[in-house]
Amino acid sequence: MPKLYGVIGDPIDHSLSPVMHQKWLRENGYDDHYHAFRVTKDQLEDAVRGLRALGVSGFNVTIPHKTAIIPLLDDIDEEAEVIGAVNTVINENGRLVGTNTDAIGFMKSLEEKGFAPEAGDSVLVIGAGGAARAVCAALAKRAKIRVDLTNRTPEAAERLSARFFNSNESAVWTLEEAEKRLAQYRLIINATPVGMSGFADALPVRTERLTAHTICVDLIYRPLKTRFLEAAEQIGAPALNGLPMLIHQGAAAFQRWLGIWPDTFNMEKYLLENYFQ
Ligand SMILES: NC(=O)c1ccc[n+]([C@@H]2O[C@H](COP(=O)([O-])OP(=O)(O)OC[C@H]3O[C@@H](n4cnc5c(N)ncnc54)[C@H](OP(=O)(O)O)[C@@H]3O)[C@@H](O)[C@H]2O)c1
Repeated sequence: MPKLYGVIGDPIDHSLSPVMHQKWLRENGYDDHYHAFRVTKDQLEDAVRGLRALGVSGFNVTIPHKTAIIPLLDDIDEEAEVIGAVNTVINENGRLVGTNTDAIGFMKSLEEKGFAPEAGDSVLVIGAGGAARAVCAALAKRAKIRVDLTNRTPEAAERLSARFFNSNESAVWTLEEAEKRLAQYRLIINATPVGMSGFADALPVRTERLTAHTICVDLIYRPLKTRFLEAAEQIGAPALNGLPMLIHQGAAAFQRWLGIWPDTFNMEKYLLENYFQ
């Protein structure tokens, strides 16, 4: 009998997960289904009970449920524990186990382009929310790099820094302080929604001091080119949007469910051609 997978969140209409997973299922010879379910905050408990009763094989979890779902699961793994959020659930013989594939998705997207930081590199993370937590979890696994943080609310960045890094390998700057130091970083990551469609067409930090040797990464993928990435391109700095991270976090979830790493290279082409016109 075909199995069922899905994603729960609200809003969910524009999620690319169904087209992505459905395509990978077919490519790998499965006639299973992957469906998007709109689940509001007050429906979460009922939805998880329902998914469990129906024997759904696995599902993704997105805004606003990534943290709230944790007490509703039977267990979470170390990755979800460290990040403090779940984006993927695996049904292990009736036990719902939560994991998080955002950190691996983020690092794979960098590695694929040769952008992953190496020993001696300094990195600046802008933001201190859920995405920044996954980014920090991924960066904390790299040896001998320095990771500084900046955020609109510096206290949130202080907490994040203390969770993942020693104080001698991480500083927290106000946005203004960070703007003055942009040239010292090998890699800058925007992990805020500033620049996203529907948000003000704005910059997460002013980019006057940005130089061409800094790799600029934006986790946003709508639009593909935010003002931050536009500024990077204008001065000749390497730039990467959030689409490869989205694809790789999905691929890591697919692997957890089915034991197969699906084709991410052609998926990027497919999504760009069909969903970003
Ligand atoms: N490519 C991918 O696969 C992927 C995966 C996950 C997330 N993302 C993207 O990453 C972004 C952040 O998501 P999230 O889940 O981390 O959100 P979140 O938990 O709500 O955190 C938002 C962060 O951005 C800051 N922020 C929000 N609005 C701001 C503004 N107007 N000016 C300055 N800072 C602002 C917040 O600062 P305060 O602490 O001051 O509130 C906070 O640090 C979103 O655009 C999301 O789409 C992409």
